Amino acid sequence: MSSHPEATKKLLSADLQKMKDNGEKISMITAYSYPQGLIVDEAGIDIILVGDSLGMVELGYQDTVPVTMDEMLMHTKAVVRAVKRAHIVGDLPFMSYNISTEQAVTNAGILYKDGGSDSVKFEGGQDYASVAGAITRAGIPFFAHIGLTPQTAAMMGGFKVQGKSLDDAKAVLDDALAMQDAGAFAVILEAIPQQLAAIITEKLTIPTVGIGGGPDCAGQVLVLHDMLGLFQRFTPKFVKVYADMYTAQCNAVKEFVSDVKEVKFPAAEHSFNMKADAVEELKKALGL
Ligand code: KIV
Repeated sequence: MSSHPEATKKLLSADLQKMKDNGEKISMITAYSYPQGLIVDEAGIDIILVGDSLGMVELGYQDTVPVTMDEMLMHTKAVVRAVKRAHIVGDLPFMSYNISTEQAVTNAGILYKDGGSDSVKFEGGQDYASVAGAITRAGIPFFAHIGLTPQTAAMMGGFKVQGKSLDDAKAVLDDALAMQDAGAFAVILEAIPQQLAAIITEKLTIPTVGIGGGPDCAGQVLVLHDMLGLFQRFTPKFVKVYADMYTAQCNAVKEFVSDVKEVKFPAAEHSFNMKADAVEELKKALGL
């Protein structure tokens, strides 16, 4: 028991399972930096994903494919320094787990042990069940991600809704069951029909977290920059935009530019003063 009255308990996979079992919906969002970690933790989010989406929304890549382990590690550490309560998931980038099981366990260990995340995630279903199993056997909590998997979207014919036909729907369900059997403690369902997500949520014991999976998932996740209106390139159908932070921030900087040009900034309250006699003395000393 903590002796500090304000000590906050970190949410672990067992707490998230309890939330699902009690019918309490789980909230999850991405964050990539120290200030973003502070904000979303203070707002009461349950899970923070330091997602490889940072490649697009923070680093300006076209997609998530170029993201490296070094980038993921640096951003994971920044978020970990900020967060007291939320469960932090570190995301394994493309080609950091695809080559061999040994490579996957090593890189999962880097995000978990060096990065300080509370669990790790990668994208993949049945084909990757043995890799997920090896990560959990190594003692690292594992979060699965199936349905639309952005790192391999090119192999899926682009960013398309998955599981629409009978065979495809069965394959997504089999992916979910395989990941649960492999020891995953939760699974993201991305861009699948809501009816399929509801069936998977019913069939699994572990929590499902939807992003384009409809309202029956055990939880919901969004990319922070999408919901804050900070990412302007495109907005997927499953995003609800809660604020226009792009315009708000742009307007604030515009106002600063105009204040500087018109010498409205800095005002008296932003400036430091010397005593009047010290000013006179200085001027005299400089011959002014
Ligand atoms: O990297 C990410 O942000 C993700 C979400 C789309 C779930 O994987």
